[in-house]
Order: sequence, then C-alpha cells, then structure tokens
Amino acid sequence: MSADAMVSRRAVLAAAVALITAGCAAATGSSSSAELVWATGGVTGADRDRALDIAARWHAFHPDAPKVRVEPLPLSPNETQELLRLELNAGLGSLDILSLDVVWIPEFAQRGWLVDLHALRSEIERVSFPGPVRAAVWNGTLWAAPDTTDAGILYYRSDLVDQPPTTWQELVESGRRVGGRKGIAPFVADGKQYEGLVVQFLEYFWGLGGAVFDPDGQSVLFQPDKAVQAVEFMRNAFFQGVYAPGFNTMDQEDARKTFQSGYAVFLRSWPYAYHEIMGGDPDSQVVGRVGIAPLPAFPGHRPVAALGGHNLAVSAFSRNIPAATEFARFVSTSREVQLATFQRRSVAPPTLTAVYRDLAADPLIALLTKVLPTAKPRPATTQWATISAEMQQQIFAVYTGDSDPKAAVTALRDFLIATVKGS
Ligand code: GLC
Repeated sequence: MSADAMVSRRAVLAAAVALITAGCAAATGSSSSAELVWATGGVTGADRDRALDIAARWHAFHPDAPKVRVEPLPLSPNETQELLRLELNAGLGSLDILSLDVVWIPEFAQRGWLVDLHALRSEIERVSFPGPVRAAVWNGTLWAAPDTTDAGILYYRSDLVDQPPTTWQELVESGRRVGGRKGIAPFVADGKQYEGLVVQFLEYFWGLGGAVFDPDGQSVLFQPDKAVQAVEFMRNAFFQGVYAPGFNTMDQEDARKTFQSGYAVFLRSWPYAYHEIMGGDPDSQVVGRVGIAPLPAFPGHRPVAALGGHNLAVSAFSRNIPAATEFARFVSTSREVQLATFQRRSVAPPTLTAVYRDLAADPLIALLTKVLPTAKPRPATTQWATISAEMQQQIFAVYTGDSDPKAAVTALRDFLIATVKGS
C-alpha cells in the first residue's frame, strides 16, 4: 500500500470511529428520533452549504418533524464509500439519510442497508428526469430518491478558441495549437487512480461504440479493440503533452483549479465546476472567458457523457424510517428546494424536469437539457466497487506507460468475466 493510500485509509478509519461514537451517543440519548442525521459528502464546501440550506427549508416546511442534522463526509468519493460501508456493515443506526453516488446503490441495496422506497416511485417518476430514477432502481424497486444528477461536459477558453471542438482529434489539434501559442496545456481532467478516471475511460470507450456488458447485464462484452483504442488515446494524450502536467495525480478539484488558473485550454469536468469557474471561486482567473459544450466525439460516433449524481437513500438501521423517507421525498420532489439550492450554489444539477424549464435561460441548464437525456450510466451491478477498483488500476498502469495496452485490456476482460461468473 502506498503512503498516500495508508494516510487516506487512516483518515477513513478515524472518521468512521468519530461517526460510530456519535451514533452510540445518539443511541443512548433521551430521544433517538428527535433528529435525523443526513450523511452527505461532496466536492466543494458548497455541497455542505447546500445541505444546510435544504435542512433549514425542511425545518421551515415541517416545524413539527424531527430536525435534520447534516453529517459531512469526506470529499473524496472513494473514502466516503468506504466510510459508509464500515458504518452500515456494523448495523449502526447513527445515520438516517444517506447521499449515495449512483454507482453505489445496487451494492448497498443488495446488502440490505437501504429501505425500499417503492411507495415513492410513481410520484418521483412523474417529476424527475428518467436517468436519475433509473440509476436509483435496482432489482425492480426504487432504493433512493433522486437528488442531484451529473453528466460530463467540456469547458473551453472562449477567449482563445472560437468554437468548441466537436471531435477528440479537433480538441487535440486546437488545444496544441492554442496551448503552444500561450504556453499552457491543451487539456486537463482528473487522471488520478480513482473513480473519476474510470468515468473518463468509459466516456472514450463508449464513445467508440464499446459496451462493458450486454444490455441485460448478464454477459461481458468489453470489446478488446475498442478498449485498446480508448486507453491508447489516453496514453498518447499523456505522453504527447496533451494532458496537463500532473494529470496523473489530479482529482476533479485539482483539474478545475488548473483550468481556472488559466493553465489549460480545455477541461473535462462535471457541471458543478461552472459556477466556481465563473467567479463563485474568487481565485478563478478566467471569469467570463469560458464556454461550455458537449464532450467531443470520435469520427462516425456520437459524443457520450457519463451519467453521475447522488441520490438520497434511507438507512435500514434508521430509528425513524418514516420521517427519513419523508425527507427524501421532500428533497426529491420539491421544486422550490431544487430551484433555490441550485441557483445559489456551485453544486451538481437538479433532477426535477420543471426546474430545467424554470431556468431555461441559464447556459448551463440549456446545455444539460441537451446532454442529460443521452448521458450513459455506469453498469448497475452490485460488483461495481470491485470492477471499478480493477479498472482504476489497469487503466492507470496503461496510460502512464507501466503496462501494455493489449495485455491490460485482456486482463481486465478476464477479470470482468470471472467477476460476473462468481456473482
Ligand atoms: C461525480 C459524479 C459521480 C461520480 C464521481 C466520480 O461526483 O456525480 O457519479 O462517481 O464524480 O469522481
């Protein structure tokens, strides 16, 4: 284990102990259902402010209901997931509402950690985008209420580039030309060995017509030729100076900061970064000089953005399941909550279709209205954490030159087949 991994594992354990201790304290308190604890992670401090804002609105609308206390989780998705696993595996009732990344839902549901929210399904389906609802359904039932949704988008320096590129080749050429002239990198994104890297690999792989599983999710496709093409694109971009220096160590916040400091022509990120780059973050050096566009495509293919987002699940160990469920319903279906919290903060986009009509003039909302309907979810499998960890390792090793593309893709394919067989 690397020193970094050890430090981060220690941080997760320390946070877990703190959470568990808080849970035990709550359990021995006088009224265990007097408050609801909402565990939520995020990428920026704005996520926490948003959660506090939502909790305040819940109190205003439901003066007699239990108060919601926000329990902030680590910012890194990998650490948050591990922390929640430890907590839920121990069967502790210290958390009532869980903000879950869309890719964690099948595993958490299968382990019996989530309350079945089937009763909310028809109401939610009437008001939400279908993508986030589909991502919260596993094994035929709804396990979480959509809260935020996400799709990969391209940011470009509108003062340096007339039109955003529509193909990856154009992005490379234009980034090199403009970047060379300005002495900045062509392209930046989060290339560190974590979930964000898998997302990007999949956007290239899907964008070349690849699919990890067949449509019923039962057998592995993972076409080796397309997977090799996708990793070779990344490897060339890394070795030929298309990705910014340090790409291999960056998470999404590092990439955003590199771009907003003026060090790259293009950025692949999520929508949350828009408001930060446009001045929400006072350190941004590119305010008013940035455009947004769909991700580029490979010739002969359509662009593919990965679908992300976070949904609200109710812990099966909650001591107040009815109130926690009502809170999830409130957040997921209240136009006022979703509208107000999105307008004021740098956070992931809302899931209610009505909010997209209310904010149709907003450039980010206008782009998302185009991109979200075709954004592609990562495979809905209880094994996602294992599969993603293997992909993170293999893809990182290939693009940084430590392993051979064909050998790594073959190993990955074998791993996928063995994992599906063993499940
Ligand atoms: C964003 C997405 C989430 C994804 C993560 C990867 O937070 O919403 O779904 O897993 O980025 O880093």
